[in-house]
Amino acid sequence: MDAAGSASVTTESSSADLLIAFGTTTGTARDVAHRIAREAYSFTFENSYTHYFRPRVLSMKEISVNYLISNWVNKNAMVIFVVSTTGQGEFPDDTKELWRELCGKSVPAVPIRFAAIGLGDSFYEMYNYPAKKLQNRLKQLSATSPFEVCLCDDQHDCGYAGALNPYLERCWRAWVPENCTTNPDSVPVARYNLVNIPVPGLQFNNQPRPTCDKLEQRMMIRNERVTDFDNFEDTRLIAFDTTNSNLNFQAGDVLQVFADNFPDNVQNFFKLYPQLRDQPPFYLVSVRSMRWVSIPAELFELCGPQPWTWETVATKIFDFQSIPGVYAFQILRSFATDPLIKEKFDEYCRPEGLDDLYNYTNGPRRTILEVLLDFRNTAVLVPPNYLFELIPFMRPRAFSIASPPCETQHIEILVAVVEYTTNLKTRRRGTCSHWLAEYCQIGQKVGVFCEKGSLRPPPNDAHVIMIGPGTGVAPFRSMIKQNLDKWDKHLFFGCRNKNIDFNFGQEFNEMVEKGQLGFYHAVSRDSAGRKLEYVQDLIVKQPNLFSSMMVSPLPIYIYVCGRAGQMPKDVRAAMQTVFSKIGINAAKHVINGMIEQGRYQVLMY
Ligand SMILES: Cc1cc2nc3c(=O)[nH]c(=O)nc-3n(C[C@H](O)[C@H](O)[C@H](O)COP(=O)(O)OP(=O)(O)OC[C@H]3O[C@@H](n4cnc5c(N)ncnc54)[C@H](O)[C@@H]3O)c2cc1C
Ligand SMILES: Cc1cc2nc3c(=O)[nH]c(=O)nc-3n(C[C@H](O)[C@H](O)[C@H](O)COP(=O)(O)O)c2cc1C
Repeated sequence: MDAAGSASVTTESSSADLLIAFGTTTGTARDVAHRIAREAYSFTFENSYTHYFRPRVLSMKEISVNYLISNWVNKNAMVIFVVSTTGQGEFPDDTKELWRELCGKSVPAVPIRFAAIGLGDSFYEMYNYPAKKLQNRLKQLSATSPFEVCLCDDQHDCGYAGALNPYLERCWRAWVPENCTTNPDSVPVARYNLVNIPVPGLQFNNQPRPTCDKLEQRMMIRNERVTDFDNFEDTRLIAFDTTNSNLNFQAGDVLQVFADNFPDNVQNFFKLYPQLRDQPPFYLVSVRSMRWVSIPAELFELCGPQPWTWETVATKIFDFQSIPGVYAFQILRSFATDPLIKEKFDEYCRPEGLDDLYNYTNGPRRTILEVLLDFRNTAVLVPPNYLFELIPFMRPRAFSIASPPCETQHIEILVAVVEYTTNLKTRRRGTCSHWLAEYCQIGQKVGVFCEKGSLRPPPNDAHVIMIGPGTGVAPFRSMIKQNLDKWDKHLFFGCRNKNIDFNFGQEFNEMVEKGQLGFYHAVSRDSAGRKLEYVQDLIVKQPNLFSSMMVSPLPIYIYVCGRAGQMPKDVRAAMQTVFSKIGINAAKHVINGMIEQGRYQVLMY
């Protein structure tokens, strides 16, 4: 059946071209795009093993309307868009240009066959807006899709796979002809080979070595615990030296930080694969027939030029703490020799087995390294190049920049060290925050880059209200220090106790004394641990502040930043209460209007 549902006779010469175009902020959509390419590539014509799809993966920043019309309007071509959501229901930066083009008044028809997959989080009000908008707009432009948009939700027990897996099955059923199959028992194809001598031209699919200009190795120059040592919460003020650096940022932007693995995880990996430690350095080369595969450019900045040792790979490339999905079990199943173990993996790989898989992995937050150790007899049978399929690559973590751009010698971030106990009572340490706090030494170089934040600055003349409890205060410190003489600005800060985690409190108090800032702080616990008040309680106590702003000709900008949870909702309810208190009718609509105009911005993480 073809996309429109009509029967089509497909010969091998009518293999299909499949473009998977992704728009991402933190890399998930890129991973999903590669996963789709891999899955598509596994369909072959029954008798000849020729691949049915010729997949291609591109970032949406590399695509224009013209490119789509010239290359992808064809009965044997289809496009899958994978787009994540950022800010408040916004398109990721790499997608904005194409979206602007698609919305242009004189844009021509784009009659492609497509499917749209959205990555989002139903915790947010504007859930998966970009994918929904993209689906609607493409249909207006004469593109056809056999399905509704696929909405993947971080809140699903199985993460994005919860919606993606059944959706892809439907896509393949609609798009793959009957004389093509995928053999669930065949060994998945590895994307990379390991070779001992450099192979000219082969290494990067004949493309020049990728470069990653934005990533720099910067020296950690400060790692100061700002929470009291007796307190269970550990928050660090961390600084990187930026003298002679090309890192550029505005107040409100974030620093992306690459961590190494914890030494104990690296040791456990080598306990499992002792022979790898003594292997000579090798070159990682992508398999030429997989045109979409490349080696992520950042690896060359983090690990240096090839060849790489296994020590480097285990320390810097593999993310041992990531939680494995179905694909990892498909690979393990391929190499398992014990029939009982094979059967177990079979169960995890079937759509009906998703709950069992969830209970084994996501539920207790079991890491890929723990899975390999649990199934060590199978794990040791996995060939080294398949470890690059089994273990995801380390991703950078985002931290709001807490220092202003005018302080050019350093970049500061405020890091809450993640630590929790799983439902199996296992202690978990946040990969990046814990590594920065405990293992990274002063003077050590760390891979970092700056990225545009989702908080947009107000105009020069404005009333600015900033609400940032805990580490949520970080971007506001940058904004305030950069604009000391600008704006009528007020900061609402919340901490547990003034003696424990009064982040930057003294600095802000000094600004108050100089008339540069209005500062309101809530302390949530007294010395006996009893509940006191939160930032939202402070807001409702300030009707006079808000009424004076309302009569002023200057616009009001409200910013909220902090951990996702109840706080952003409670703050909004408090805003509605205080607006109603000062006589504003339909406060809810007023706030909705402010959101639409970008005058009420929320950053949750
Ligand atoms: C734009 C942006 C700005 C940010 N700014 C800051 C900032 O200024 N300061 C800051 O500290 N953080 C900030 N963060 C969050 C920071 O990136 C994350 O906290 C990061 O995940 C920590 O990384 P990690 O590697 O230490 O933890 P990871 O190893 O990635 O572990 C974090 C994951 O563990 C899980 N987890 C955490 N706690 C629990 C629990 N109790 N139970 C079960 N599972 C749990 C969650 O799935 C969470 O995603 C920001 C995030 C974004 C997107
Ligand atoms: C700062 C931030 C803002 C977000 N805003 C939204 C949102 O408004 N709506 C939504 O559905 N998801 C939102 N999300 C969730 C992401 O879209 C989701 O985690 C996605 O998997 C990220 O994909 P990416 O890594 O490809 O960018 C947000 C995530 C972050 C970190």
